[in-house]
Amino acid sequence: MAKDALNRSARLSVAPMMDWTDRHCRYLHRLLSREALLYTEMVTAPALVRGGALHLLDHSPEEHPVALQLGGSDPEELAQAARIGEEAGYDEINLNCGCPSDRVQSGAFGAVLMKSPELVADCVAAMRAAVSVEVTVKCRIGVDQQEPREVLPRFVEAIAGAGCERVTIHARKAWLQGLSPKENRDVPPLDYDIVLDMKAAFPGLHVSVNGGIVSLEQARAFLDEGLDGVMIGRAAYHAPADILAAADPEIWGTGEAADPVRVARDMLPYIESHLSAGGALHQVTRHMLGLFAGRPGARMWRRVLSEGAHRPGAGPELVEEALAHVAPLAEARRAV
Ligand SMILES: Cc1cc2nc3c(=O)[nH]c(=O)nc-3n(C[C@H](O)[C@H](O)[C@H](O)COP(=O)(O)O)c2cc1C
Repeated sequence: MAKDALNRSARLSVAPMMDWTDRHCRYLHRLLSREALLYTEMVTAPALVRGGALHLLDHSPEEHPVALQLGGSDPEELAQAARIGEEAGYDEINLNCGCPSDRVQSGAFGAVLMKSPELVADCVAAMRAAVSVEVTVKCRIGVDQQEPREVLPRFVEAIAGAGCERVTIHARKAWLQGLSPKENRDVPPLDYDIVLDMKAAFPGLHVSVNGGIVSLEQARAFLDEGLDGVMIGRAAYHAPADILAAADPEIWGTGEAADPVRVARDMLPYIESHLSAGGALHQVTRHMLGLFAGRPGARMWRRVLSEGAHRPGAGPELVEEALAHVAPLAEARRAV
């Protein structure tokens, strides 16, 4: 995909989230927005290069534009992993410099890399040399006792100097000791101003903000303030229709708002083919539980799907059964 088109998609993206943004989730999100850039869960470079775990790269052609997020800190290994990702068809390779989990720390990658901008620059340069798709970085504003206003400009300068042309900044620090990964997404305070300052200091760099953004209006406001992109994680997962259904007309001025009932029905052929390939219904429907969040009938939709999808032999008819609790209400609302 051409760089301009990808930069345009990156005006709104769905964050990489382990165990959440798998291929089924991304397929659902793509039905809600044709434009938004979608990210995979993090895949570690050692898993691809040493473990040969190529199945981690499986995805559907419908998911594009889709970026592969890699975890790692060895430039040569990351370069190989990036090449494998490009060959698998990903539009972008993103390096994770923001994830604080223990497992990731022990492998010396993720947020701990905020302490080693030169190493990250080497990683970016090696990846850039290995692939022709874009290489991007997702980072924090700092870790532990670091002073973000000192370290972040140096970090951004290092990666930009190595050829990274797009960065997403999760606008809070990560504490590598003492906070769980979950707490690290909520406890350290958000500092959006520093992200705006980075855009001012590096005007040629595509800068996206991430962290705590819960509505399209909020996303729009950041774009109006001059940022190039907004990345949304949890809100896009828990209430995908609120974030993504109206995104195409509101963020890109294209298409019409997607109808969640229609989207649920459009998942049926996908579910059928997943089941006939030996998959289980709940693997797909678990990502659909939030589809009607905040809408009439949402509780029954969730309940029918979450209670029924694990039953042996459960199939697409369960989705229709759950829809019976929301679709008539949605249709009635449209009629008034
Ligand atoms: C369940 C979960 C898994 C996550 N996994 C990753 C990951 O693999 N890579 C990454 O860079 N960030 C990961 N994150 C962090 C998100 O990408 C994002 O930076 C964070 O949730 C803040 O954005 P939000 O407030 O919009 O959710 C994860 C977050 C959640 C909730």
